[in-house]
Amino acid sequence: MINPMDLWSSLSEDLQRRQNQGLRRSLTPCRPLSPTRTLRQGRSVLHFASNDYLAMAWNPQVREEFARIADQYSLGATASPLILGTSEPYAKLVESIAHWHQSESAVVFPSGYAANLGTLQSLVSPEDLVLSDALNHACLIDGCRLSKATIKVFPHRDTDSLGDLLANLRGRFRMAYILTDTLFSMDGHVAPIPQIESLCREFNALAIADEAHASGVFGNRGRGLLDAHRADRSVWIKTGTLSKAIGCTGGYVAGPHLLCDTLLHRARSLIFSTALPPAILGAAAKSIQLIQNMDEQRLKLLERSSYLRKELTLRGFRTTADTTPIIPLYVHDPHEALRLSEKLFDAGIFVPAIRPPTVPPNGCLLRISLNSDHTHEDCQLLLDALG
Ligand SMILES: Cc1ncc(COP(=O)(O)O)c(C=O)c1O
Repeated sequence: MINPMDLWSSLSEDLQRRQNQGLRRSLTPCRPLSPTRTLRQGRSVLHFASNDYLAMAWNPQVREEFARIADQYSLGATASPLILGTSEPYAKLVESIAHWHQSESAVVFPSGYAANLGTLQSLVSPEDLVLSDALNHACLIDGCRLSKATIKVFPHRDTDSLGDLLANLRGRFRMAYILTDTLFSMDGHVAPIPQIESLCREFNALAIADEAHASGVFGNRGRGLLDAHRADRSVWIKTGTLSKAIGCTGGYVAGPHLLCDTLLHRARSLIFSTALPPAILGAAAKSIQLIQNMDEQRLKLLERSSYLRKELTLRGFRTTADTTPIIPLYVHDPHEALRLSEKLFDAGIFVPAIRPPTVPPNGCLLRISLNSDHTHEDCQLLLDALG
């Protein structure tokens, strides 16, 4: 037993330990100036740090729609979606998401985090087996924990190990689910979608895909990586977020009526949370309408990403090979990550240092994320500053 005084001193020791290990975090105020520049610590700097892949957070038509709806509706939704929160913009957004993803229906959650948490908590039961990629996002991990299922973590993208786990364990469980990000948020890797799909068929499993970083960026009309791989819908459940390429905030699940109806009845992160503000829902619907016709920006984004990756590799930096706008620069430890990020900041460029627990202890990196407004010159400035 400890008393409250002991508790506070153990918390203080923990923070000091993090400080010594280069793991201390703090909130640094920023004032966004454009899709690629921010005011930080009193300086206007070029940044490679947002998830606003198509610069939609700055799109004039999306912002106009936000202002128009904010003028007509209450600021907050004032209640959960099942009470008063299903405003006209809410219903319109559900329709836009379903239309975009060619699904029967959709459900909008307060965030992408809540969408994954609610989906896993609603579907997965303690008699089930969950197989989760080692680098999955925290919301999939936390959703697994909520489900109380048996969880096995397979090495990142290692479908041989995944197959072995299924072969050894599948028979002992009611259902099996395979969980994966489709575009991994820190390493910029693409998931082995076709291989996971065939394992699902072989072992009667369902796959749950978090398309948070992929939707808007990949696939026909920006529908995501499942679409780009022509994935079989009967095998996959798709979740996404409105906070990255859509440039707003919120999360969603797109799928059959039965799934969406089940979520309305079971997903606690939806039922017990206030709906998103009408203006943000309306802005997200406008953004979804626009991004479907933004192939040119998608192409430019991926071309720039390839160029930067190639140049970094040529200069001897350790990164990943996939053609995605998330480019990690691996370093040895948290101190080196901080030093490199500070060196870039001195040169007028902000690239965040990513340290545990966001990544595993041996996975420290600088996360370069590009958006469609980054120019060739911006990439050149970054390369020059890295030296
Ligand atoms: C892979 C992944 N899934 C889900 C989320 C959560 O989305 P949101 O920020 O909308 O809660 C994030 C990011 O924050 C993410 O990187």
